[in-house]
Amino acid sequence: MNIIKLNNGLEMPQLGFGVYQIQNDQTAEAVYQAIKAGYRLIDTASIYGNEKETGEGIRRAIKEGLVTREELFITTKLFILQASEDKAIATIEQSLAIMELNYIDLYLIHQPYGDVYGAWRSLVAAQKSGKVKSIGISNFKSSKMIEFVRLNGVKPQINQIEVNPWNQRIEDQKWHEKYGVQIEAWAPFAEGHRDLFINPVLTEIGQQYGKSVGQVILRWLMQRGIVALAKSVRPERMIENINIFDFELTDEDLTKIASLNMKESAFFDHDAPNQVEWFMNRMLDTEK
Ligand SMILES: NC(=O)c1ccc[n+]([C@@H]2O[C@H](COP(=O)([O-])OP(=O)(O)OC[C@H]3O[C@@H](n4cnc5c(N)ncnc54)[C@H](OP(=O)(O)O)[C@@H]3O)[C@@H](O)[C@H]2O)c1
Repeated sequence: MNIIKLNNGLEMPQLGFGVYQIQNDQTAEAVYQAIKAGYRLIDTASIYGNEKETGEGIRRAIKEGLVTREELFITTKLFILQASEDKAIATIEQSLAIMELNYIDLYLIHQPYGDVYGAWRSLVAAQKSGKVKSIGISNFKSSKMIEFVRLNGVKPQINQIEVNPWNQRIEDQKWHEKYGVQIEAWAPFAEGHRDLFINPVLTEIGQQYGKSVGQVILRWLMQRGIVALAKSVRPERMIENINIFDFELTDEDLTKIASLNMKESAFFDHDAPNQVEWFMNRMLDTEK
Protein backbone atom coordinates (compact mmCIF):
# COMPACT_ATOMS: atom_id res chain seq x y z
CA MET A 1 0.00 0.00 0.00
CA ASN A 2 1.29 3.44 -0.89
CA ILE A 3 1.52 5.89 1.99
CA ILE A 4 0.92 9.65 1.76
CA LYS A 5 2.46 12.16 4.19
CA LEU A 6 0.13 14.97 5.23
CA ASN A 7 1.05 18.59 6.00
CA ASN A 8 0.95 17.85 9.77
CA GLY A 9 3.60 15.14 9.37
CA LEU A 10 1.17 12.23 9.83
CA GLU A 11 0.75 9.50 7.23
CA MET A 12 -2.25 7.85 5.62
CA PRO A 13 -2.87 5.03 3.12
CA GLN A 14 -3.30 6.30 -0.43
CA LEU A 15 -6.16 3.93 -1.23
CA GLY A 16 -9.21 3.51 0.96
CA PHE A 17 -12.67 2.06 1.28
CA GLY A 18 -15.83 4.21 1.44
CA VAL A 19 -19.17 3.20 2.90
CA TYR A 20 -21.47 5.82 1.35
CA GLN A 21 -24.80 4.27 0.26
CA ILE A 22 -24.03 0.91 1.86
CA GLN A 23 -27.19 -0.29 3.59
CA ASN A 24 -27.00 -0.45 7.37
CA ASP A 25 -27.43 -4.21 7.45
CA GLN A 26 -24.54 -4.64 4.98
CA THR A 27 -22.06 -2.11 6.38
CA ALA A 28 -20.40 -4.09 9.20
CA GLU A 29 -19.80 -7.05 6.89
CA ALA A 30 -18.53 -4.79 4.08
CA VAL A 31 -16.09 -3.00 6.40
CA TYR A 32 -14.87 -6.31 7.81
CA GLN A 33 -14.41 -7.76 4.28
CA ALA A 34 -12.61 -4.61 3.15
CA ILE A 35 -10.14 -4.85 6.05
CA LYS A 36 -9.70 -8.54 5.25
CA ALA A 37 -8.94 -7.58 1.63
CA GLY A 38 -6.20 -5.24 2.86
CA TYR A 39 -7.84 -1.79 3.13
CA ARG A 40 -6.68 0.21 6.12
CA LEU A 41 -8.37 3.54 5.33
CA ILE A 42 -12.13 3.47 5.99
CA ASP A 43 -14.29 6.50 5.13
CA THR A 44 -17.74 7.18 6.61
CA ALA A 45 -19.73 10.30 7.61
CA SER A 46 -22.35 11.20 10.19
CA ILE A 47 -24.86 11.81 7.36
CA TYR A 48 -24.35 8.30 5.93
CA GLY A 49 -26.12 6.93 8.99
CA ASN A 50 -23.82 3.91 9.20
CA GLU A 51 -21.09 5.01 11.63
CA LYS A 52 -22.35 2.46 14.17
CA GLU A 53 -22.10 -0.44 11.73
CA THR A 54 -18.74 0.83 10.47
CA GLY A 55 -17.50 0.63 14.08
CA GLU A 56 -18.89 -2.91 14.37
CA GLY A 57 -16.98 -4.06 11.27
CA ILE A 58 -13.79 -2.49 12.62
CA ARG A 59 -14.18 -4.13 16.04
CA ARG A 60 -14.78 -7.54 14.47
CA ALA A 61 -11.62 -7.25 12.34
CA ILE A 62 -9.58 -6.20 15.39
CA LYS A 63 -11.09 -8.93 17.56
CA GLU A 64 -10.24 -11.59 14.97
CA GLY A 65 -6.65 -10.33 14.84
CA LEU A 66 -6.74 -9.14 11.21
CA VAL A 67 -5.47 -5.72 12.21
CA THR A 68 -4.78 -3.45 15.18
CA ARG A 69 -6.54 -0.13 15.76
CA GLU A 70 -3.24 1.67 15.16
CA GLU A 71 -2.94 0.13 11.69
CA LEU A 72 -6.32 1.52 10.67
CA PHE A 73 -7.08 5.03 9.46
CA ILE A 74 -10.70 5.95 10.16
CA THR A 75 -12.39 9.01 8.67
CA THR A 76 -15.75 10.54 9.45
CA LYS A 77 -17.37 13.90 8.68
CA LEU A 78 -19.43 16.76 10.07
CA PHE A 79 -22.58 17.52 8.05
CA ILE A 80 -23.89 21.05 7.47
CA LEU A 81 -26.55 20.61 10.14
CA GLN A 82 -23.75 20.46 12.69
CA ALA A 83 -21.47 23.08 11.14
CA SER A 84 -21.03 25.45 14.08
CA GLU A 85 -18.51 25.69 16.92
CA ASP A 86 -20.78 24.16 19.59
CA LYS A 87 -22.40 21.50 17.45
CA ALA A 88 -19.08 20.36 16.01
CA ILE A 89 -17.70 19.50 19.46
CA ALA A 90 -20.83 17.53 20.31
CA THR A 91 -20.85 15.77 16.93
CA ILE A 92 -17.23 14.64 17.23
CA GLU A 93 -18.03 13.20 20.67
CA GLN A 94 -21.10 11.53 19.21
CA SER A 95 -19.13 9.93 16.35
CA LEU A 96 -16.50 8.64 18.79
CA ALA A 97 -19.24 7.15 20.97
CA ILE A 98 -21.26 5.65 18.10
CA MET A 99 -18.19 4.04 16.50
CA GLU A 100 -16.76 3.10 19.93
CA LEU A 101 -13.41 4.64 19.08
CA ASN A 102 -10.92 6.50 21.30
CA TYR A 103 -9.81 8.70 18.43
CA ILE A 104 -10.63 9.46 14.80
CA ASP A 105 -7.75 9.55 12.31
CA LEU A 106 -9.29 12.13 9.99
CA TYR A 107 -12.27 14.38 10.63
CA LEU A 108 -13.69 16.48 7.77
CA ILE A 109 -16.15 19.34 7.38
CA HIS A 110 -18.39 17.64 4.81
CA GLN A 111 -19.77 20.67 2.93
CA PRO A 112 -18.61 24.28 2.54
CA TYR A 113 -21.80 25.62 4.18
CA GLY A 114 -22.91 26.71 7.63
CA ASP A 115 -20.49 28.27 10.12
CA VAL A 116 -17.45 26.43 8.80
CA TYR A 117 -15.06 28.82 10.56
CA GLY A 118 -16.70 28.15 13.94
CA ALA A 119 -16.72 24.43 13.22
CA TRP A 120 -13.04 24.59 12.26
CA ARG A 121 -12.12 26.07 15.67
CA SER A 122 -13.69 22.98 17.26
CA LEU A 123 -11.88 20.63 14.88
CA VAL A 124 -8.58 22.33 15.76
CA ALA A 125 -9.38 21.96 19.48
CA ALA A 126 -10.25 18.27 18.96
CA GLN A 127 -6.98 17.80 17.12
CA LYS A 128 -5.03 19.45 19.94
CA SER A 129 -6.73 17.19 22.49
CA GLY A 130 -5.87 14.07 20.44
CA LYS A 131 -9.49 13.05 19.81
CA VAL A 132 -8.85 13.65 16.13
CA LYS A 133 -5.42 13.18 14.55
CA SER A 134 -5.88 15.00 11.23
CA ILE A 135 -8.53 17.47 10.10
CA GLY A 136 -9.78 18.66 6.76
CA ILE A 137 -12.54 19.82 4.50
CA SER A 138 -14.64 18.32 1.73
CA ASN A 139 -16.32 19.68 -1.37
CA PHE A 140 -14.53 23.02 -1.05
CA LYS A 141 -13.75 24.55 -4.44
CA SER A 142 -10.14 25.69 -4.83
CA SER A 143 -11.19 29.34 -4.37
CA LYS A 144 -12.88 28.55 -1.05
CA MET A 145 -9.96 26.31 -0.01
CA ILE A 146 -7.53 29.19 -0.55
CA GLU A 147 -9.66 31.56 1.53
CA PHE A 148 -9.95 28.92 4.25
CA VAL A 149 -6.20 28.28 4.35
CA ARG A 150 -5.36 31.97 4.39
CA LEU A 151 -7.83 32.93 7.12
CA ASN A 152 -7.13 30.05 9.50
CA GLY A 153 -4.05 29.49 11.66
CA VAL A 154 -4.20 25.73 11.11
CA LYS A 155 -4.66 24.62 7.54
CA PRO A 156 -6.63 21.54 6.46
CA GLN A 157 -4.65 18.38 5.85
CA ILE A 158 -7.15 17.11 3.26
CA ASN A 159 -9.81 18.34 0.85
CA GLN A 160 -12.04 15.42 -0.16
CA ILE A 161 -13.54 16.22 -3.56
CA GLU A 162 -14.98 14.46 -6.59
CA VAL A 163 -12.20 13.24 -8.90
CA ASN A 164 -12.76 10.71 -11.70
CA PRO A 165 -12.00 10.43 -15.43
CA TRP A 166 -14.97 12.68 -16.29
CA ASN A 167 -13.99 15.32 -13.75
CA GLN A 168 -10.22 15.18 -13.42
CA ARG A 169 -9.57 18.38 -11.41
CA ILE A 170 -6.17 19.03 -13.00
CA GLU A 171 -6.14 22.77 -12.22
CA ASP A 172 -7.54 22.13 -8.75
CA GLN A 173 -4.69 19.73 -8.03
CA LYS A 174 -2.15 22.47 -8.87
CA TRP A 175 -3.84 24.87 -6.44
CA HIS A 176 -4.00 22.26 -3.69
CA GLU A 177 -0.31 21.39 -4.18
CA LYS A 178 0.55 25.08 -3.96
CA TYR A 179 -1.20 25.31 -0.58
CA GLY A 180 -0.03 21.90 0.72
CA VAL A 181 -3.54 20.47 1.02
CA GLN A 182 -3.80 16.81 -0.03
CA ILE A 183 -6.64 15.93 -2.42
CA GLU A 184 -8.67 12.83 -1.61
CA ALA A 185 -10.91 11.58 -4.43
CA TRP A 186 -14.51 10.62 -3.83
CA ALA A 187 -16.48 8.69 -6.48
CA PRO A 188 -13.33 7.72 -8.42
CA PHE A 189 -15.60 5.59 -10.63
CA ALA A 190 -18.21 8.36 -10.91
CA GLU A 191 -20.46 5.62 -9.48
CA GLY A 192 -20.41 4.17 -13.01
CA HIS A 193 -22.14 7.21 -14.57
CA ARG A 194 -21.85 7.71 -18.32
CA ASP A 195 -20.96 4.03 -18.75
CA LEU A 196 -17.57 4.51 -17.15
CA PHE A 197 -16.97 0.80 -16.54
CA ILE A 198 -17.34 -0.03 -20.25
CA ASN A 199 -15.52 3.00 -21.60
CA PRO A 200 -13.48 1.82 -24.65
CA VAL A 201 -10.41 3.98 -23.91
CA LEU A 202 -10.10 2.72 -20.34
CA THR A 203 -10.93 -0.85 -21.35
CA GLU A 204 -8.20 -0.87 -23.99
CA ILE A 205 -5.63 0.55 -21.57
CA GLY A 206 -6.54 -2.13 -19.03
CA GLN A 207 -6.26 -4.94 -21.56
CA GLN A 208 -2.54 -4.20 -22.04
CA TYR A 209 -1.93 -5.11 -18.39
CA GLY A 210 -4.70 -7.63 -17.80
CA LYS A 211 -6.45 -5.07 -15.59
CA SER A 212 -10.05 -3.87 -15.33
CA VAL A 213 -11.36 -0.34 -15.91
CA GLY A 214 -11.71 0.11 -12.15
CA GLN A 215 -8.08 -0.85 -11.62
CA VAL A 216 -6.90 1.52 -14.37
CA ILE A 217 -8.77 4.42 -12.76
CA LEU A 218 -7.43 3.78 -9.27
CA ARG A 219 -3.90 3.31 -10.63
CA TRP A 220 -4.23 6.64 -12.49
CA LEU A 221 -5.15 8.36 -9.21
CA MET A 222 -2.22 6.69 -7.39
CA GLN A 223 0.20 7.94 -10.07
CA ARG A 224 -1.24 11.46 -9.74
CA GLY A 225 -0.48 11.41 -6.00
CA ILE A 226 -4.17 11.58 -5.08
CA VAL A 227 -5.70 9.63 -2.20
CA ALA A 228 -8.66 7.60 -3.50
CA LEU A 229 -11.73 6.02 -1.91
CA ALA A 230 -13.49 3.17 -3.66
CA LYS A 231 -16.75 1.59 -2.56
CA SER A 232 -18.07 -1.87 -3.26
CA VAL A 233 -20.24 -4.25 -1.29
CA ARG A 234 -18.77 -7.21 -3.19
CA PRO A 235 -15.64 -8.85 -1.70
CA GLU A 236 -14.35 -9.84 -5.16
CA ARG A 237 -14.47 -6.20 -6.30
CA MET A 238 -12.83 -5.03 -3.06
CA ILE A 239 -9.93 -7.39 -3.86
CA GLU A 240 -9.89 -6.28 -7.51
CA ASN A 241 -9.82 -2.60 -6.57
CA ILE A 242 -6.86 -2.93 -4.21
CA ASN A 243 -4.85 -5.05 -6.64
CA ILE A 244 -3.31 -2.08 -8.44
CA PHE A 245 0.23 -1.91 -7.14
CA ASP A 246 1.81 -4.31 -9.65
CA PHE A 247 1.56 -2.30 -12.87
CA GLU A 248 2.28 1.21 -14.11
CA LEU A 249 0.48 3.39 -16.63
CA THR A 250 2.70 4.93 -19.30
CA ASP A 251 2.73 8.58 -20.38
CA GLU A 252 0.78 7.48 -23.45
CA ASP A 253 -1.91 5.89 -21.25
CA LEU A 254 -2.07 9.04 -19.13
CA THR A 255 -2.52 11.21 -22.24
CA LYS A 256 -5.42 9.02 -23.38
CA ILE A 257 -7.07 9.26 -19.96
CA ALA A 258 -6.58 13.06 -19.99
CA SER A 259 -8.67 13.20 -23.20
CA LEU A 260 -11.73 11.93 -21.26
CA ASN A 261 -11.89 15.00 -19.00
CA MET A 262 -15.25 16.79 -19.26
CA LYS A 263 -14.23 19.22 -16.50
CA GLU A 264 -17.59 19.05 -14.75
CA SER A 265 -19.18 17.03 -12.01
CA ALA A 266 -20.65 13.68 -12.99
CA PHE A 267 -23.29 14.38 -10.29
CA PHE A 268 -24.07 17.98 -9.34
CA ASP A 269 -22.30 21.24 -8.68
CA HIS A 270 -22.12 21.80 -4.92
CA ASP A 271 -22.30 25.55 -5.52
CA ALA A 272 -25.27 25.52 -7.92
CA PRO A 273 -28.12 27.64 -6.49
CA ASN A 274 -30.64 24.79 -6.55
CA GLN A 275 -28.18 22.55 -4.70
CA VAL A 276 -27.39 25.20 -2.08
CA GLU A 277 -31.13 25.80 -1.69
CA TRP A 278 -31.59 22.07 -1.04
CA PHE A 279 -28.81 22.09 1.58
CA MET A 280 -30.31 25.15 3.27
CA ASN A 281 -33.85 23.74 3.28
CA ARG A 282 -32.53 20.59 4.85
CA MET A 283 -30.52 22.52 7.43
CA LEU A 284 -33.25 24.99 8.39
CA ASP A 285 -36.09 22.43 8.37
CA THR A 286 -34.11 20.26 10.78
CA GLU A 287 -33.64 23.21 13.15
CA LYS A 288 -37.40 23.91 13.35
N1 LIG B 1 -17.27 13.84 0.62
C1 LIG B 1 -18.32 13.60 -0.13
O1 LIG B 1 -19.19 14.47 -0.34
C2 LIG B 1 -18.46 12.25 -0.76
C3 LIG B 1 -19.40 12.04 -1.78
C4 LIG B 1 -19.50 10.77 -2.34
C5 LIG B 1 -18.66 9.75 -1.90
N2 LIG B 1 -17.77 9.96 -0.90
C6 LIG B 1 -16.87 8.87 -0.42
O2 LIG B 1 -16.21 8.27 -1.52
C7 LIG B 1 -16.50 6.88 -1.55
C8 LIG B 1 -16.53 6.36 -2.99
O3 LIG B 1 -17.49 7.05 -3.74
P1 LIG B 1 -18.90 6.41 -4.19
O4 LIG B 1 -19.23 5.30 -3.30
O5 LIG B 1 -19.89 7.52 -4.30
O6 LIG B 1 -18.66 5.90 -5.67
P2 LIG B 1 -17.59 5.06 -6.50
O7 LIG B 1 -16.60 4.45 -5.59
O8 LIG B 1 -17.16 5.92 -7.62
O9 LIG B 1 -18.50 3.94 -7.15
C9 LIG B 1 -19.13 2.95 -6.41
C10 LIG B 1 -19.95 2.09 -7.38
O10 LIG B 1 -19.07 1.38 -8.27
C11 LIG B 1 -19.34 -0.02 -8.20
N3 LIG B 1 -18.03 -0.69 -8.29
C12 LIG B 1 -17.02 -0.64 -7.39
N4 LIG B 1 -15.95 -1.30 -7.83
C13 LIG B 1 -16.27 -1.79 -9.05
C14 LIG B 1 -15.56 -2.55 -10.00
N5 LIG B 1 -14.31 -2.93 -9.79
N6 LIG B 1 -16.22 -2.89 -11.16
C15 LIG B 1 -17.48 -2.50 -11.38
N7 LIG B 1 -18.21 -1.75 -10.51
C16 LIG B 1 -17.60 -1.41 -9.34
C17 LIG B 1 -20.03 -0.25 -6.88
O11 LIG B 1 -20.98 -1.30 -6.97
P3 LIG B 1 -21.00 -2.52 -5.90
O12 LIG B 1 -21.02 -1.93 -4.53
O13 LIG B 1 -22.26 -3.25 -6.25
O14 LIG B 1 -19.76 -3.33 -6.19
C18 LIG B 1 -20.79 1.09 -6.68
O15 LIG B 1 -22.03 1.04 -7.32
C19 LIG B 1 -17.84 6.79 -0.82
O16 LIG B 1 -18.17 5.48 -0.40
C20 LIG B 1 -17.64 7.77 0.30
O17 LIG B 1 -16.87 7.20 1.33
C21 LIG B 1 -17.66 11.19 -0.33
